[in-house]
Amino acid sequence: MHLGLIMDGNGRWASQRRLPRAAGHLEGMKACKRVIVAAKNMGVEYLTLYVFSTENWKRPQQEVDYLMGLLAKKLPGELRFYQENNIRILFRGDVKSLPKEAQESLEKTKQETSAMNGITVILAINYGGQDEIARACSRFIEKNPGKPISIQDIQENLDLPQVPAPDLIARSAGEMRLSNFMLWDSAYAEFLSLDDLWPDWGDEQVKKCIDALSKRVRKYGGLA
Ligand code: IPE
Ligand code: IPE
Ligand code: MG
Repeated sequence: MHLGLIMDGNGRWASQRRLPRAAGHLEGMKACKRVIVAAKNMGVEYLTLYVFSTENWKRPQQEVDYLMGLLAKKLPGELRFYQENNIRILFRGDVKSLPKEAQESLEKTKQETSAMNGITVILAINYGGQDEIARACSRFIEKNPGKPISIQDIQENLDLPQVPAPDLIARSAGEMRLSNFMLWDSAYAEFLSLDDLWPDWGDEQVKKCIDALSKRVRKYGGLA
């Protein structure tokens, strides 16, 4: 089972408490850890978390810098947590365009968790579904100039072609849009929106996702 989560509402969580937006992002990181452990305990094999979109660069420089700093410093600081909980971390998105310090942190995290097999957590960073499809097409064209491109060719050139498509995409903070998340492989994903702001997520919300998915009838264009 692959669960994709659009983590939204960190800013709202902070403003409700008259705190700076950064405090919401920090609390959001704690929610990530609760959600990862809950998902693993409930048998989720792949969990994709939408961390930073290709559009999030439009935010004030101070907020972008803060988020990049979290990636560069906090991510490797959690290595023990990943190893103790048997969590493998992978990345999806245009990570080569991130600040060098953040890239190094991502690479280290990926390498040092590569033997873990309790759950695979994919962090979508500088990720945009449109950007990923464009990059997949470019990769194919570079290897096969002049050839027509098929659905399978695009699939095979995505960032993580071996990862199955998400079964459910859920979003926090009550929003009901994809905001450029997994556009290609969301083709037949179920969708769920929960009102809880991301920093308030934990066991209860993960269970709601799994329960919702178990009640959906998936037909993939066929008949039930
Ligand atoms: C999600 O929370 C975190 C990121 C997109 C990085 P937001 O920062 O979007 O929170 P709101 O939407 O302003 O409440
Ligand atoms: C989507 O949240 C991106 C991430 C969760 C990383 P946003 O808060 O950026 O999305 P919009 O702008 O409300 O659509
Ligand atoms: Mg938001």
